[in-house]
Amino acid sequence: MTVILRAKIAALVLGLGISSMAQAEDPDTVTVYKSPTCGCCEDWVTHMEDNDFEVIVKDTQNLNPIKAEAGLTPALASCHTAFVDGYVIEGHVPASDVRRLLEQGVEARGLAVPGMPAGSPGMEMGDRQDDYQVLLFNDQGQTKVFATYPE
Ligand code: CU
Ligand code: CU
Repeated sequence: MTVILRAKIAALVLGLGISSMAQAEDPDTVTVYKSPTCGCCEDWVTHMEDNDFEVIVKDTQNLNPIKAEAGLTPALASCHTAFVDGYVIEGHVPASDVRRLLEQGVEARGLAVPGMPAGSPGMEMGDRQDDYQVLLFNDQGQTKVFATYPE
């Protein structure tokens, strides 16, 4: 009886170990750093979840060290900073662009939507629709247009 129980516990521990390892490598898991009081960040999290990403939320008052670590210049910065499969995702980047980045395995540090354009995912404001671009950026802070909205 005890032996069986121990075996079960061992299997459980092993199972947990494997699933947490899988999660660390799972390209569909997004870790987002955001202010605990920012509503648009929360809406972007919902947008990602609605598009089949698993989102781990890390609330923090001080995003500056995270943005610095992510290699984000002030020109690229937005409200929240996220990480997925080694890429940085800054601001209100549409889930479809994150998906395309992952699928294509594009060589880049990540994607950014600088500022907070109205009409981007999480920044819906009625009929307001700003023109905005999703930028691909590299370690040197150089950028390339990845997508343009409205399409
Ligand atoms: Cu925002
Ligand atoms: Cu945000």
